Amino acid sequence: MKNYDQAERLQKLPPYLFVRLEELTAKKKEEGMDMIDFGIGDPDLPTPEPIVKAVQEALPVNKNQKYSSSQGEKDLRTAIAEWYKRRYGVDVDPKTQVCVTLGSKEAIFNISQAFVNAGETIIAPSPGYPVYSGASTLFNDAECAEVDLRPENDWLLDVDDCPDGARMMYLNYPNNPTGATCDLDYLKGVAEWCSEKGTILAYDNAYSEMCYDGYRAPSILQATDDAIEFGSFSKTFNMTGYRLGYAVGNPDLISGLKKCKGQIDSGAPIFIQKGGIKALSMYGEDGSAPKAVEDNMKIYAERRKAIVDGFRKLGFDVKMPKGTFYVWFDCGMPSMKFTEKLIDCGVVVTPGSGFGKSVGNYARVAVTQSLDRIEEAFDRIKKVL
Ligand SMILES: Cc1ncc(COP(=O)(O)O)c(C=O)c1O
Repeated sequence: MKNYDQAERLQKLPPYLFVRLEELTAKKKEEGMDMIDFGIGDPDLPTPEPIVKAVQEALPVNKNQKYSSSQGEKDLRTAIAEWYKRRYGVDVDPKTQVCVTLGSKEAIFNISQAFVNAGETIIAPSPGYPVYSGASTLFNDAECAEVDLRPENDWLLDVDDCPDGARMMYLNYPNNPTGATCDLDYLKGVAEWCSEKGTILAYDNAYSEMCYDGYRAPSILQATDDAIEFGSFSKTFNMTGYRLGYAVGNPDLISGLKKCKGQIDSGAPIFIQKGGIKALSMYGEDGSAPKAVEDNMKIYAERRKAIVDGFRKLGFDVKMPKGTFYVWFDCGMPSMKFTEKLIDCGVVVTPGSGFGKSVGNYARVAVTQSLDRIEEAFDRIKKVL
């Protein structure tokens, strides 16, 4: 008899809480219930027209239908380097300091494949994007030091809580799931700590362009050249399905990432990369965001306010986030129980316990529904809470 037992490293992954959520939601849908879904961090708005057009024009051209390379096309790497100059005032060499990625998720995982040995420690903020404590740690037989982020510290990771001697630290602001943001001085402090301790700093800046109320997220590369930063076209330009991102930073770290990716993928489709070039070219010379991005952020800002106000009216203590498209708050009961209550009335949110043990009473709401649907959702929520 053949055995189809999954590899031990796969078995070590914790049960995916979101699977249970999907099952519950699917059951309600089967019963004919109209579900209003604030669960997934996937923009409902369309990709800006000029980007779609650039991809459409590139697709029929034969040379764009071939393999790219795992580090990405030179013209996109150059466009990313120029964007870093305009947006952050940072100089990077497109040859040695930029790598195009298949969304940022694979690079967040592959950087650990490239640099972390079995038994070494990875610092993962908790709550946090599950890949840090999941695949990045478990598939490398590494140890995960989950460091709690605390509301009284505005969800900023405190380096005094972090262990010495860790091989790598993941850090993410604007933050999923808390919506927390940080300033450049904070990043300088963490970068200094990592350099002192010999810990590789892997900075996840996937939400760098999702900012509100005049706030603009900094890059870790404004604080140090001794780090790697991951960015993404997904959320900024509503391009989650295109799978396009970038890693920028220290040449040795980029070189390790490229070596790893060279064994695994053959690069993002070239016609998609052309869309990426178009997207970045829409930014102003002074690094200002294009109208298309600003318009999207205005829509998210209105929805964010409607959701924050809606939960405040119901008596919850909710902060207005300055970044991401998530609203995050203490829901006053185990988050899975809260989530199940809401699913019963056709509203889907994400339980905080999916992002870390210490936040079992928090819930995350993605602002990916129209104002009408948000209003409808609160009419329903009022009746069950
Ligand atoms: C914090 C964070 N990092 C990275 C990603 C990955 O995004 P992508 O692979 O689409 O760039 C996500 C997606 O939700 C995220 O929330």
